[in-house]
Amino acid sequence: MKVLGIETSCDETSVAVVEDGVKVLSNIIASSIDLHKKYGGIVPEIATRHHAEIILHLLKEALSIAGVSLKDINLIAVTQGPGLIGSLMVGMAFAKSLSQALKIPILGVDHILAHIYSCYLSYNKPQFPYLGLVVSGGHSSILYMKDFNNFIPLAKTRDDALGECFDKVAKILGLEFPGGPVIEKKALNAKEKNISFPTPWIKNSYDFSYSGLKTAVLYYVKKIKTLDEESISEICYAFQEAALAAILKQVKKVILDYKINRLLVGGGVSANSRLRELLKTFDLELFLPEISYCSDNAGMVAGLGYELYNRSMRSDFSLEPYSIFENNLKMNR
Ligand code: KG4
Ligand code: ZN
Repeated sequence: MKVLGIETSCDETSVAVVEDGVKVLSNIIASSIDLHKKYGGIVPEIATRHHAEIILHLLKEALSIAGVSLKDINLIAVTQGPGLIGSLMVGMAFAKSLSQALKIPILGVDHILAHIYSCYLSYNKPQFPYLGLVVSGGHSSILYMKDFNNFIPLAKTRDDALGECFDKVAKILGLEFPGGPVIEKKALNAKEKNISFPTPWIKNSYDFSYSGLKTAVLYYVKKIKTLDEESISEICYAFQEAALAAILKQVKKVILDYKINRLLVGGGVSANSRLRELLKTFDLELFLPEISYCSDNAGMVAGLGYELYNRSMRSDFSLEPYSIFENNLKMNR
């Protein structure tokens, strides 16, 4: 079964063709990130326009690289949310039009679950149940996954997501957007490791909160007044350690409480080598996506669409985008 995946939840426009859930025939990704750099963050209007400009070109390229035509496609899977509403609407309107014109079934899929699914593109099917950890620019979530259509959200962010915090701290330090990869690189260069920031921590909850850590970095930078290359590296190191420690602490707590030791990780921040290194120290069956599947891509959307379709999930033209994950719970549980 060949599934056409469409992903437009944020700044990446992506179209993929995936066969039987795991064979990626093509996975084309075009990002508008360069257009946002000067604003230090994603500008929704710019992202939306960019999706609309290029999505048809990406479809043509994805079909051509996969060596298929639209009549070979059995299902169209499209990201329904969470994400930027304007961006999501471009992908959904495009998917609906294709579906209507070509009489191909359409299925809306959840972006967070798709990030977890990205591990299936790199490994032989991990067995349920497991924990899913999604760390990206918009989300810090832990889910107890009994199946793709049967899961319990355990943790979310109460303010900034982990990737968002990397991006905001980079801005404070005068580094370029997106901040994650730059901070990771600078942290590796740190010679002195004398600073420490408190690990963000919410008592009696699995949730995350990163706005306090961001503020701690801001106050520290204001206090030292001059920022040279070495102090930037040292701050990056200290910030990254504190930010990742919070993830590890909560994951450890969930593992103990739920007595489960299989973990699938996804999302842009799962590309971070320090996070990968730290997670590997756990006594866990650990699944990390290939780096190319960490950030937003339609391959994971197509793959998840295949699995959900095989569990009899269907969508119709009343499909609406949603911006916040919680809205989806009613639909998927
Ligand atoms: O999953 P993604 O591409 O988009 C969302 O769904 O949000 O994640 C993008 C986020 C950005 O905040 C970026 O700074 C972060 O992932 N990121 C990283 C790294 N690579 C990307 N954060 C830390 N270390 C990295 N190597
Ligand atoms: Zn994402």
